[in-house]
Amino acid sequence: MTTIALLCAFSQGRAQTPQRASRIADSVLALMTLEEKLGQITQAPAGWGQTGPAVDAGGEQQVREGKVGAFLALWGAETTRRMQRIAVQESRLHIPLIFGYDVIHGMRTIFPVPLAMAASWDSAAAARATRIAAVEATAMGVHWTFAPMVDIARDARWGRIVEGAGEDPLLGSVMAIAQVRGFQGDDPRAPNSLLATAKHFAAYGAAEAGRDYNIVSLSERDLWSVYLPPFRATVRAGVGSFMASFNEINGTPAHANDWLLTDVLRRQWGFRGLLVSDWTGVWELMQHGIAADSLTAARRALRAGVDMEMSSTLYRNTLAAEIRARRFPLSALDTAVHRVLRTKATIGLFDDPYRGVSVDRERRDLLTAENRAAAREIAREGIVLLNNKTVAGAPALPLRRTLRSLAVIGALANDSGAPLGSWAGAGRREDVVTVLAGLRRALPDLQIAYAPGVPLDTVHMEGAVSTPGITEAERIARESDAVLLVLGESADMSGEGASRSSLELPGSQLQLAQAVVRAARSASADKPVIAVLMNGRPLAVQWLADSTSALVESWFLGVEHGNALADVLFGEFAPSGKLPVTFPRVTGQVPIYYNHVRTGRPGIDKQKYTSNYVDVPWSPLFPFGHGLSYTTFGYANLRVSRESIRGSESVTVTVDVTNSGARAGTEVAQLYLRDDAATVTRPVRELRGFRRVTLNPGETRTLTFRLGPEDLALYDRDMRRVVEPGSFTVWAGGSSAATLERRFMVTGGVVVLSEAPPRFR
Ligand code: NOJ
Repeated sequence: MTTIALLCAFSQGRAQTPQRASRIADSVLALMTLEEKLGQITQAPAGWGQTGPAVDAGGEQQVREGKVGAFLALWGAETTRRMQRIAVQESRLHIPLIFGYDVIHGMRTIFPVPLAMAASWDSAAAARATRIAAVEATAMGVHWTFAPMVDIARDARWGRIVEGAGEDPLLGSVMAIAQVRGFQGDDPRAPNSLLATAKHFAAYGAAEAGRDYNIVSLSERDLWSVYLPPFRATVRAGVGSFMASFNEINGTPAHANDWLLTDVLRRQWGFRGLLVSDWTGVWELMQHGIAADSLTAARRALRAGVDMEMSSTLYRNTLAAEIRARRFPLSALDTAVHRVLRTKATIGLFDDPYRGVSVDRERRDLLTAENRAAAREIAREGIVLLNNKTVAGAPALPLRRTLRSLAVIGALANDSGAPLGSWAGAGRREDVVTVLAGLRRALPDLQIAYAPGVPLDTVHMEGAVSTPGITEAERIARESDAVLLVLGESADMSGEGASRSSLELPGSQLQLAQAVVRAARSASADKPVIAVLMNGRPLAVQWLADSTSALVESWFLGVEHGNALADVLFGEFAPSGKLPVTFPRVTGQVPIYYNHVRTGRPGIDKQKYTSNYVDVPWSPLFPFGHGLSYTTFGYANLRVSRESIRGSESVTVTVDVTNSGARAGTEVAQLYLRDDAATVTRPVRELRGFRRVTLNPGETRTLTFRLGPEDLALYDRDMRRVVEPGSFTVWAGGSSAATLERRFMVTGGVVVLSEAPPRFR
């Protein structure tokens, strides 16, 4: 029996305690050569074969020689089993490989993109989607996902805003925790548990000018108050790994930032998992200009705390001679190797390197009827009804089921790629129910006329107007009882490396919309024209909001997009989504976000010398938290349990929410807070709680929120976390524009919750 086999036998069937995982890592580490250690912290990307991800003969040989510890983007039961067999049978030490992949919003059953998931404000739904994703991904041999992305994003030009939960640290933290729990499940060694990664550490979402990979200039206070909380939440939720971010912050790229990766993450937060670089992130230290050569880049990254190098091979290629010559401490390498091995032990790879993966399981677990049903339910919750005007005496939505004819216009309506969004795992276009297909299935007797208007591939090209397409769209708009315009972005216009300088509707879609609205109204002044958006970021759609009868944000909802949208449009499901990001009126307003810090001259429209614009209102088109339903909700009786508390105490806030409309519906009730005067400037308001509540017509529910010291706290001038005495205002309502407010006082002295974190360097 080999030593590794002995270890496996030793750990089999036993509960995996952190101590046992560490012991396994120590024992294996003791057997390794320097080269094997450097191989162990190297993650190689898979290639693409005839039918899917594959590793070529050279890659296989590297595994035999112990030059690779992990693969990236390798999946499929057969392929992963084969590579694992090579590792555990043909390499000297038989150390199993770990397979990582970007399982972001589903593996085969694709769920809403994370931004759409956040629009549900439903953490249970996020946990459910990620659990299913984990079951499917592990069936395909994946052990480790590079998700959730918990970057806060305040600039919608940044393409990766689609991968996160939007602009708010609390909503972002809640969604982050739910996803970590969903992916990882209860037992990290379970064959269907997927190791999660909190990424990108840190502040990647603050990329200057919204341009991907750009530099970040950020105050220490904003970093701690806005960008770090979701990361910290994932550590508390037990996330197994972290990924460093591509950006620098104030002069130091994350991959070389020992303050961030070690002082904060390891020492202050106590993170014990694995930290992986982003793709070539170690090599990019040379591009950043903080390493003159690859050796310096490798030294800096490993010393900073990057345990595993993804894709580039600087560790493997440069460090051996350096360590032998004692110019670099072996202990730093051993620490990284130990973490890799401990992670492998933690997820049970030394018990069963195959983790029960089989072609049978793969066949059984993917895209099941239950998974599709879940995808539909979850997708409906992500849809946000932005406005819904009265047409001929009734709300434009839901559409009457007695409608005889409907014109569906826009290439996205018939596109099976867009609903998959960015990062589609093993998702396939043929699995997708398009908007058009969903509408047809929902009402087979409805006469649907379809015209793309302008082809999808012209969406990228400004000014490329296709006149014949628009003429046909106008014709069907005139001839149908109602019109559905499906507009927005193709899937590749958001995501990594997909930032935009403009948030307007791309290509000639606005001209199409204008022509269609004109044609529809010329035929009948009160013909409903419904606009549905499909996109991965907030769009500046002032004209659509003003000129159409109803505006629906559907983002990219995954394989059940069409069914979920039809459920909402025809009233099977009353929309309940709320915006996780602010929608601007024009691009020039970005970055625009609700929880901005107060200024000395708050914006007042048309009033000179206030913080406004001369050409547009300074307020957003739709505020954070906004979203309507087919019923209405009223808020009343906002109360605080005590008018005055000490800074170490809590206050209870209650509010009555009533369904004041005619049908049942779900509201996301939101609670905001402001510290009215402090020693440092504070945001105008911040989300401090929210609750999803389903109410029948006329029903009232009293909701209770508790605000404790952590909710009242701020980082003071010395970066201590403190509660300061003074007045606080709370608001409750259905969006960040809520107006129902109450005050309470905090009395007594300053309460210090924690001393300053390690100072930024
Ligand atoms: C680069 C991306 O920034 C990161 O999010 C992703 O996980 C890796 N590539 C691997 O695909």
